[in-house]
Amino acid sequence: MSKVEFKQLSPADFFYRNRELAGFDSPVKSLYTAFREIIENSFDGAEIGGINPDVFVSIKEKSDDVYTIFISDNGIGIPGNKVPQALAKLLFGGKYVERQSRGHFGLGASMTVLYSQITTNLPTRVLSCTRGSDVIDEYHLMIDIQRNEPIIRYHNQIPNKKKWHGVAVEVNIEGDYKRAHPKILDYIESTALVAPYASITFIDAYGILYKFNKIVDEVPKLGKAVLPHPRGIDTEKMLRLIRVAKQKSMKNFLTSNFQRVGEITAINFLKYVNIKPDKVPDQLDHDEIVRCVQGMNSYEDFLSPETKCLSPIGETVLEAGILKELEPMFVTTVTRKPQAYSGHPFVVEVAMAYGGNKIEAASEPTLFRFANRIPLLYDQYADVAAKVIRSFNWRMYKVPQNAKLAIITHIASTKVPYRTAGKESIADRPELEREMRLAMQVCARKMRVYLSRIEREERSAKRASIFEKYLPYIAQFATKLSGKKQVPPTDFVAGGKGRDKE
Ligand SMILES: Nc1ncnc2c1ncn2[C@@H]1O[C@H](COP(=O)(O)OP(=O)(O)OP(=O)(O)O)[C@@H](O)[C@H]1O
Ligand SMILES: [Mg+2]
Repeated sequence: MSKVEFKQLSPADFFYRNRELAGFDSPVKSLYTAFREIIENSFDGAEIGGINPDVFVSIKEKSDDVYTIFISDNGIGIPGNKVPQALAKLLFGGKYVERQSRGHFGLGASMTVLYSQITTNLPTRVLSCTRGSDVIDEYHLMIDIQRNEPIIRYHNQIPNKKKWHGVAVEVNIEGDYKRAHPKILDYIESTALVAPYASITFIDAYGILYKFNKIVDEVPKLGKAVLPHPRGIDTEKMLRLIRVAKQKSMKNFLTSNFQRVGEITAINFLKYVNIKPDKVPDQLDHDEIVRCVQGMNSYEDFLSPETKCLSPIGETVLEAGILKELEPMFVTTVTRKPQAYSGHPFVVEVAMAYGGNKIEAASEPTLFRFANRIPLLYDQYADVAAKVIRSFNWRMYKVPQNAKLAIITHIASTKVPYRTAGKESIADRPELEREMRLAMQVCARKMRVYLSRIEREERSAKRASIFEKYLPYIAQFATKLSGKKQVPPTDFVAGGKGRDKE
């Protein structure tokens, strides 16, 4: 009789066996994922500190199919004693808080180190220095995969003579650069499009230099972590909050643990769910907890979630970026009001660009997706934006078949609901899907006005061309009939159209 052997896997061992869940599958995708994970960390590292990111990144061929990615940034750095765990322990990170950042999972950097190790057996070199520190910590790191613990191959402290702060990483990855190259370029160009406040220098594996200069000074304000919003909260989250709550009344519990809940809102809400304001939180019974959670989702008088923790791109910047990059005949953008799912605030932004020479005519709209300013280049079909687009009847909005239509979507949230830890597609959470649909409807309606006008203009231009063709004959005939000699002028019929904005 066969015997089943039970054992537990460490997170590192789990992701070693299921690395595609973190975006490390084919040699092309793995190289791309490693590249983007470390760039994302650099942007976060600077933006969290309110610093304009200045990022240098290069890729060099080390040997056949092995590439060295080097990146250095000017961010807040990682404290010396935390570097091994931050970069060589899976599910360890500083971003498990309610704050908008590119990283969420505590996985990207350590997965890159893990993938490097299993494909090249080389350690990853890391330099880190926090602001105001006199020393730079240098580590050569690997991971004990079975135990999910960092292995420190080398550690040294170097004097910080140039007052540098930030992180530099040098990692070797086996991959297919030739095929990853276009995606890597797309990624870096799209990143620059939505981060005009950053300077990026990139040297590709062919030695070509790309420079994206900072054109605005303003850095998105991501610094502050916030409390969860009551809307969308679930029982597990509620129980966790109650377990650690120090407040002795429900009224104080609500005002201290949720954003946008002041005393009056708390009292009105407790009346709505029929719970006494002075009830002690950890004495709520099962029914009261369920009532409270359900009430939070249906109560209409909570103020909208705080925006200060979110950093949407904004209608003006988005429009400017699109006009520059896609040169359409028409563009419209919308930044929706913040909403929340499971207590996490989010903002949906959508833009539609139509016509011109850069957008390709296709049977379906060309979709550009961003989440917390990260361009999402893979798994489009599974994304909530693609789902909403598929559900639209574009003919209702006067969009012809094979139209030159580009749709740009951006979701800014303190926690983006990605489908996998590879951060490539966003799940269709009902709250998110609804906002995405409403934003697209707003844009599509404005576009319909434009397209109707174009249709009218085309119709009248067609009519005008018929008049242009036959009017001279009619004029000649009428002149003859009336016995006059002078044929009246007929060249006053004309039509035309030009670039437009909503
Ligand atoms: N360049 C950097 N500057 C500052 N801190 C960094 C940098 N790189 C990594 N870190 C720290 O190391 C932690 C782990 O990074 P890692 O990429 O593994 O996870 P994450 O960014 O939190 O989430 P995700 O898995 O979604 O990328 C981060 O949370 C951050 O605190
Ligand atoms: Mg990260």
